[in-house]
Amino acid sequence: MLEYRIADISLAEAGRHQIRLAEREMPGLMALREEYADQQPLKGARIAGSLHMTVQTAVLIETLVDLGADVRWASCNIFSTQDEAAAAVVVGTGTVEEPAGVPVFAWKGETLEEYWWCTDQIFRFPEGANLILDDGGDATMLVVDGAVAEAAGGVPEPGEDAPEEAKVFAARLRESLAEDPQRLTRIRDGLLGVSEETTTGVNRLYRLAEVGQLPFPAINVNDAVTKSKFDNRYGIRHSLPDGLNRATDVLIGGKVAIVVGYGDVGKGAAEALRGQGARVQIVEIDPICALQAAMDGYEVVHLDEAIGAADFVITTTGNTRVVSTEQLARLKPGAIVGNVGHFDDEIDLAGLAKQPGVEVVEIKPQVHEWTVPVPADLGLDRETTSFIALSEGRLLNLGNATGHPSFVMSASFTNQVMAQLELFARHDAYPPGVHRLAKELDEKVARLHLPALGAKLTELTKEQAEYIGVDVAGPYKADHYRY
Ligand code: NAI
Repeated sequence: MLEYRIADISLAEAGRHQIRLAEREMPGLMALREEYADQQPLKGARIAGSLHMTVQTAVLIETLVDLGADVRWASCNIFSTQDEAAAAVVVGTGTVEEPAGVPVFAWKGETLEEYWWCTDQIFRFPEGANLILDDGGDATMLVVDGAVAEAAGGVPEPGEDAPEEAKVFAARLRESLAEDPQRLTRIRDGLLGVSEETTTGVNRLYRLAEVGQLPFPAINVNDAVTKSKFDNRYGIRHSLPDGLNRATDVLIGGKVAIVVGYGDVGKGAAEALRGQGARVQIVEIDPICALQAAMDGYEVVHLDEAIGAADFVITTTGNTRVVSTEQLARLKPGAIVGNVGHFDDEIDLAGLAKQPGVEVVEIKPQVHEWTVPVPADLGLDRETTSFIALSEGRLLNLGNATGHPSFVMSASFTNQVMAQLELFARHDAYPPGVHRLAKELDEKVARLHLPALGAKLTELTKEQAEYIGVDVAGPYKADHYRY
């Protein structure tokens, strides 16, 4: 009997139709299926996957299975699951009555307790997982922090003021320890490695490596050029306005939109909003990115000064509390705030919720109107303001819409599959630490996607290749080239 917990298995047929259409838009993954299905190079791999359970992720999961892997899956965000995709993956080649697909533990609108329960479930292969495919680092954190807590003989108590997330996470670890004090250590020690999807998770991995707590290899998929320069940028260029429109349907043109952070995601967000005719302003702390924003024609502003005139405030930093409670009180009535960075602490809604006199009304799921008192010392001519917050400050492009479109996720996920192949089949080449995929593989991902767009790639002549010191077949750039 297949284990799973999802919202509604009867949605499987609807999910299957969407997956079928997505496959047409995911040429990289489909090419890998064709290249490897006979060889079954992932036979014996037991992959614990924690990544938004969307239609696109369904194509990724079924590619891993096609290549021979056993897979268990959870979403890496409480709001991002597409329930029909989860249902279709569970049913697989079976039926609603007798599902024969992949154990999925994910539904849209999990509580935090349920979220960590689901994350724990992905490791429950009878023989333990030997690979993690992670997005944001939560699955890795569960195993690594769990093993550390097991060695220390207990879970450190989060302080009174600790965020709710930290308390729920500690409770999950305590439960795991009570069940079997060695379980997470055994899982950690059996891992061949992790491939990590996003900037925030990659940052966590580098920090773990720095403090000597990364005992297995990690592949930083995010910094493949065909991931971060495409998914983070062109993906958000599509899915940010999609989320804003589905959530509010407020006209963007002519309005003032502030984008906080001008990294890869910020660049895509700003471009999308400008494309809709918004007057876009950028907030940055890095002089290089601030100068890029200015040269791209955006006004670079201080959030304190600019926020009072904003119609939209979008955070893209991967940092914490970049919009403070005081700044939220400065918002004009009707302003819309949302985040597309990985975690929900960019906009300090948690801090605001603790303040007296704050009221929150649900307009519809993942769309809330916040009415907050305006402190007199802000010198504004109103006693309260009310703004709209999307997805409770979590990734709005996934909470209010369906995330990035298939084509761009095909590039990201082709990197993911290649990273899993490397960790499994060429494990000896990767000592503990954080690694990137070879440039040849990055170029292969791009190559696989060009024909679908009708793009005709020019081939170097031998003479030209020698002149610039590369091979005719690539790689064409040095590792330090920035694209
Ligand atoms: P990045 O590092 O390229 O960009 C972040 C930018 O924010 C940097 O330029 C940094 O200087 C700036 N920043 C940091 N603190 C700031 C502050 N207090 N005020 C203003 N600017 C500040 O990272 P990237 O790739 O753009 O990713 C950003 C976040 O988005 C990460 O959490 C990442 O995991 C997430 N992400 C979300 C996606 C989605 O679908 N919503 C897709 C891809 C990434």
